[in-house]
Amino acid sequence: ISAHLTVDPHFRIGAIDRRLFGGFVEHLGRHVYDGIYEPGHPSADADGFRQDVVALVKELGVSTIRYPGGNFVSGFRWEDSVGPRAERPRRLDLAWHSTETNEVGLHEFQTWLEQVGSELMLAVNLGTRGVAEALDLLEYTNIRGGTALSESRRANGRDLPFDVRMWCLGNEMDGPWQLGHRSADDYGKLATQTAKAMRQLDPELQLVVCGSSSRAMPTFGEWERVVLTHAYDDVDYISCHAYYEEKAGDRASFLASGVDMDRFIEEVVATADHVKAVRGSDKTIDISFDEWNVWYIERYHGVDKVTGIDNWPIAPRILEDHYSVLDAVVFGSLMISLLKHADRVTSASLAQLVNVIAPIMTEPGGPAWRQTTFFPFATTSRLARGAALQLKLEAPLYDTAQYGAVPVVDSVATHDDASGASAVFLVNRSQDESVTMTVDLATLGAVRLVAAETLSDDELDVANTLDDPERVALHPNTSARIVDGVLTVELPPVSWTAIELA
Ligand code: AHR
Repeated sequence: ISAHLTVDPHFRIGAIDRRLFGGFVEHLGRHVYDGIYEPGHPSADADGFRQDVVALVKELGVSTIRYPGGNFVSGFRWEDSVGPRAERPRRLDLAWHSTETNEVGLHEFQTWLEQVGSELMLAVNLGTRGVAEALDLLEYTNIRGGTALSESRRANGRDLPFDVRMWCLGNEMDGPWQLGHRSADDYGKLATQTAKAMRQLDPELQLVVCGSSSRAMPTFGEWERVVLTHAYDDVDYISCHAYYEEKAGDRASFLASGVDMDRFIEEVVATADHVKAVRGSDKTIDISFDEWNVWYIERYHGVDKVTGIDNWPIAPRILEDHYSVLDAVVFGSLMISLLKHADRVTSASLAQLVNVIAPIMTEPGGPAWRQTTFFPFATTSRLARGAALQLKLEAPLYDTAQYGAVPVVDSVATHDDASGASAVFLVNRSQDESVTMTVDLATLGAVRLVAAETLSDDELDVANTLDDPERVALHPNTSARIVDGVLTVELPPVSWTAIELA
């Protein structure tokens, strides 16, 4: 089968914010402990941070990193995580039924962020706490000195403020599983009060109010409307969270997960703009898609979940999904979906980064390696610069049980005026047919093919594991060529491809 695209740098969707390539580190399972932090590991530095992991996080190319949760944050007391380590309390983490030692806290995490070159995005606890504690944390992080909490930060070893710009007002407050779960009305009021108070302290903050924890939530749509009706003037972003998995062998729908993400984004944009219209506001709310990934949640509930009144392990092996080639192709298509909405999705966080539903895995005392999903993230983060372009795509449709008829191919292109570089990202969702793709590049002028790389495999279930950490990688797509301003490339069945042009 064949498909056709026209790329034109004049038709821009929007500038690509680097925050679109953000990550997420939650105190969860082996993410922090035995993940990024493992004193005694041969590659650990004096602070206990594994330098093999630092190198992989840098290679991945993550911008802002959301911290410290996730569900964890809704029971978190930030004061526990600062000050002399020997005096930090061990606490129950009710979200993941674990013990939090607080050995790594705000200061240590900031040290690690400086090593990987990423920016801190903090979440405040609006589950078991409220306005006062959010203000305390903000005073601790952003006030130069001369007050109790800012001086406490200085005494704890950080003279200058953390100066955190971006803040999440709680996490997934629409979810019944969330500590302190609230109705949209109650959360909308609390989020607004917290936002106003935080901005009274630091007017330049960028604030994210919680949207729905998935498009499938029964309150989706109405939650956004009610919350934004309260918070519209006081926040900059509304969050989206989405996780995808293959359910009941329905591979055709799983491959079309990007269609669900497209619809989710467009529905949240429509709802935010509805509130804008009702208020007669000039301001536009953007989306912070601050949790997205492939996640086998059914497996977590069936196998991983820790329970028992006497069982609160430290850093248990939970949510350690091993991603297949199939998963990575879907993952790549989710990045295409985010880029296609670069005008309104101006921040996103891959959930998560190390060991826990992560592109990077580690073994205590052993190696760190790249999961299959590492490749589409790293490549997209490296190549997608400048602006995302509106494409004219002509592709056949296929039927899915979940989303009806959807295009076999999805794609986005990017163009950077400054360097003249362009990139095209393509996914072939067909399970049995390759696609001969032609891309009209005439309006880009004389372009050169720098590289074409494809992720595909005859065995869709293979993954990179401790025993075989390099089984899956990107491969040069030798079919790609440009003749008379038209790029032709063969897209194998179930594949993700990146084309780099200069
Ligand atoms: O990323 C794992 C969990 O997924 C997060 O803690 C929560 O916010 C979401 O439900």
